[in-house]
Amino acid sequence: MSKIKVMTVFGTRPEAIKMAPLALELANRPEFTPLCCVTAQHREMLDSVLDIFSLKPDYDLNVMEPRQTLSTITSKCLNGMDSVLAEARPDLVLVHGDTSTTFAGALAAFYHKIPVGHVEAGLRTYDKWSPFPEEINRKLTGAIADLHFCPTVSNRDNLARENITDGVFVTGNTVIDALQTTVVKDFHFSEKKLNTLDYVNQKVILVTCHRRENYGQPMANIMIALRRIADTFHNAVLVYPVHLSPVVQETARKYLGDHPRIHLISPLDVREMHNLMARCHIVMTDSGGLQEEAPALGKPVLVLRRETERPEAVAAGTVRLVGVEAEPVFQMAAHLLSDQAEYNKMAHAVNPYGDGQACRRIADAISWHFGARNTPPEEFRG
Ligand code: UD1
Ligand code: UDP
Repeated sequence: MSKIKVMTVFGTRPEAIKMAPLALELANRPEFTPLCCVTAQHREMLDSVLDIFSLKPDYDLNVMEPRQTLSTITSKCLNGMDSVLAEARPDLVLVHGDTSTTFAGALAAFYHKIPVGHVEAGLRTYDKWSPFPEEINRKLTGAIADLHFCPTVSNRDNLARENITDGVFVTGNTVIDALQTTVVKDFHFSEKKLNTLDYVNQKVILVTCHRRENYGQPMANIMIALRRIADTFHNAVLVYPVHLSPVVQETARKYLGDHPRIHLISPLDVREMHNLMARCHIVMTDSGGLQEEAPALGKPVLVLRRETERPEAVAAGTVRLVGVEAEPVFQMAAHLLSDQAEYNKMAHAVNPYGDGQACRRIADAISWHFGARNTPPEEFRG
């Protein structure tokens, strides 16, 4: 039987972190010919992940521009994918999540009549504008995809509500597979500042904030609350690896610069990030990926957004939605920093998003779909 040619397509940091273990799984199995195309919607932040996982893309569209717009990313990815797909003719294109790369990659494959597999399928807020543009990117990708790899049962239920029931597999999230390879006991940080922090006697708060719908006033509100936390709690230390978006860089420097206990640092490589998360006290973030990783490490998470497409860890009690207004963000953090019982209630490890077997299940499902295996994979049950 001829091998199944599977092309993974990704472009941003989170897609790379979540697709790298899958690309490696495909490369390790005899039934696949793996191909990898990066759009490089992110450049430095993508390359850092490629390095860590020793992944060498077969195609690199190199689309990133400073202050790029949604239209330029989408059109450059779509155009770039055209010649890649015409040359490579994969049997399946795998895209991930909800970025512009995801949608353009799926659309390009559809134009070439190549089947599409959607990894991290079925997440929804049902709010067209939040997250923007991700909610619509993932819905459009879901409409195109032939195979849907849902992290959780509730993601599968979301697809069923849209009458998508064929080719749907509940696999767990591949980020938990990645996390199992990165966190180690005696980790030495190459970001020197992180080796000097007192993770036992101080309360290290890990912060990230980058979402487009938070640009402007919401991001300013969040930063005002963060500075007030540092001013009020003298044993709190904020560590914020700042996303390379110039909008985010400017806002973070304006509101949080020049404070002795707020450390604005460069984006961390994924191993440094996961090990910092494992050592910190709490996480405050608008990131999707951090909402999945921190609960697995038993860290309370305050989500700096109005909604979340990841309700599972909220239900499990380790994640709380605090919105984007300065007062509630400050009050919720203050509560968590001053009330040990409240902290203990949130700080327990839960794994609603995966068991480290997602990549194996996805590869099994693809094999089964193409007739190289007799049975589908078992379902992940969180
Ligand atoms: C993108 C995704 C978002 C995801 C986020 C992860 C879309 C529409 N958005 O948003 O879903 O949560 O990635 O981080 O697909 N930049 C660099 N170097 C880099 C990366 C970015 O300089 O390595 C700068 C560039 O100026 C770029 C800007 O950041 O124009 C914004 O990048 P972009 O991918 O457009 O948006 P993100 O906010 O990163
Ligand atoms: N991450 C990282 N370094 C950083 C910040 C984040 O490696 O400085 C990782 C994080 O652990 C997670 C992923 O990047 O795996 C999340 O990416 P991001 O927050 O940019 O995007 P989102 O998940 O919100 O789409």
